[in-house]
Amino acid sequence: MENFVYQNTTKIIFGKDTESLVGKEMSGLGNKVLLHYGGGSIKRSGLYDTVIKALKEADIEVVELGGVMPNPRLSLVREGIKLCKDEKIDSVLAVGGGSVIDSAKAISAGVLYEGDVWDFFTGKAQIEEALPVGVVLTIPAAGSESSTGTVVTNEDGGYKKSAGADILRPKFAIMNPVLTYTLPPYQTSCGLSDMFAHVLERYFTNVPNVELTDRMCEAVMKTIIDNAPKVLNDPNGYDARAEIMWAGTLAHNNLLDTGRIGDWASHGIQHELGGIYDIAHGAGLAIVFPAWMKYVYKHDIPRFVQYANRVWNVDINPFNMEETALEGIRRTEEFFKSINMPVRLNDANIPLDRIEEMAKKGAENGPIGQFLPLDEEDIMAILEIAGDKSLEEGE
Ligand code: NZQ
Ligand code: ZN
Repeated sequence: MENFVYQNTTKIIFGKDTESLVGKEMSGLGNKVLLHYGGGSIKRSGLYDTVIKALKEADIEVVELGGVMPNPRLSLVREGIKLCKDEKIDSVLAVGGGSVIDSAKAISAGVLYEGDVWDFFTGKAQIEEALPVGVVLTIPAAGSESSTGTVVTNEDGGYKKSAGADILRPKFAIMNPVLTYTLPPYQTSCGLSDMFAHVLERYFTNVPNVELTDRMCEAVMKTIIDNAPKVLNDPNGYDARAEIMWAGTLAHNNLLDTGRIGDWASHGIQHELGGIYDIAHGAGLAIVFPAWMKYVYKHDIPRFVQYANRVWNVDINPFNMEETALEGIRRTEEFFKSINMPVRLNDANIPLDRIEEMAKKGAENGPIGQFLPLDEEDIMAILEIAGDKSLEEGE
């Protein structure tokens, strides 16, 4: 196990009706808040009214900025920064999913920075201060509600990049599973895929002797696998929605990382797809992850065997470990298919004509991934596997 420091400072407020507490929680952070939200789901569900009422009751002045799109855009982040400066806003409330939260985080850091906020994403500057951010989560997926990261798309060039700092962790996250009942099945599935991928990124590590966190990762993955069909078949079932909502946070709040080094190449490759094709993050990961697995499994067959056996209950064939490893990969792909996620590029109508460009951009700052570092050629090969329809038929 590696040395580690772990401090997750996000206060989680979980359960039914908790959104009514948002005024009280925000009043500890400031007096004038930027209320940031997406394309309108919170207005349709009535959550917007609840939040406004709670903020008013807490005597908090509200300035609004809606319109965050999935794969949040840099242009809106810049607009938010200007608004916060003009209006002398002292705190940000994100009501929505990962895109809204990430946009809020980027705004919160950009307001206190003299230069252009994109500098944080290119590595030109480090985030050192930020306005406090609170969250009311409406979709379990990205884990941004208690993560240190923000992912933003720069429309100029189709770059989707991340930035991170401890200071970006939201101060609180209100998580009421009932708020997720209105999710369309596709968004529910994208969330399931993303949180599952967050655990996979951590699971495939080269660090030895990480038994406890291996088991914790396996528990989270098995919980996602068991509850995925339940949330899809019964969208208003509280218990399964609650399991999935909490799993989404635990998958990405860095607890499962402790003492280990995760991979993150699949996320890197997915960001290339997202930057160019605007595909939902979870859907992109369902395409990339199985392809990545097929490309790298020989690097550590025993780890892939452990994954197949413990997560997917595949019987170990002691005479053919590779077969067991491959069966685990096959079941991963089947899982993504069972929740109606695409598993090949053309399932998502993504042509193969720009994979060279994506591979180049993916590796432009050097190899990506820790489990098996990947250069441009490797990324290209993975995208080719992701584009190969025949592999799906097992040919
Ligand atoms: O915009 P509205 O109208 O609110 O609709 C949203 C959006 O269309 C809808 N939605 C959300 N909650 C709903 C709802 N519809 C009905 N009922 C509800 N309760 O769902 C759509 C998707 O929302 P989005 O916020 O984009 O989803 P998600 O949470 O999956 O976030 C994805 C973004 O997070 C980034 C991804 O790259 C992507 O840009 N990530 C952020 C991470 C982080 N900061 O730590 C880590 C992740 O790996 C990920 O990269
Ligand atoms: Zn993700």
